Amino acid sequence: MALERTFSIIKPDATRRNLTGQIIAKLEDGGLRVVAQKRIRLSEDQAKSFYAVHKERPFYSDLVSFMTSGPVVVQVLEGENAISRNREIMGATNPSEAAPGTIRAEFAENIEANSVHGSDGPDTAAEEIKFFFTDDEIVG
Ligand code: PPS
Repeated sequence: MALERTFSIIKPDATRRNLTGQIIAKLEDGGLRVVAQKRIRLSEDQAKSFYAVHKERPFYSDLVSFMTSGPVVVQVLEGENAISRNREIMGATNPSEAAPGTIRAEFAENIEANSVHGSDGPDTAAEEIKFFFTDDEIVG
């Protein structure tokens, strides 16, 4: 299986509680390598655009407010089957449904403040990586 890349965000609830290192350790222990990373504050325009796919959903404006409420860490992760592997390591969107040992089971506060985002497929991974990183910022 060829190496794959996926996009990840460590969300404001996790940076606020100083969990960045513990989350990265889970990603690395799960077989993923951080090949690009930066800590940023999302602007409202960036958050709206990143989550535009959800703009008709009732939680959209809350999600945009939450994602701009504090620093986030955006990352490119690399590994075998990185997209699905990352989603296994993260656990289900709703932490009450997340499998034991996953990031969301251990750290997430609720369905909104759920500590991490991960791309859901190859097309979104490519788009999301390009949204935040240039090619020369990714060092494999
Ligand atoms: S769902 O509800 O199963 O369809 O969830 P999903 O499509 O994976 O969710 C997309 C992102 O929206 C966030 N989300 C919410 N935010 C606030 N309130 C509610 N009720 C809610 N439901 C879902 C969820 O955390 C997902 O964020 P990302 O960053 O994409 O993981």
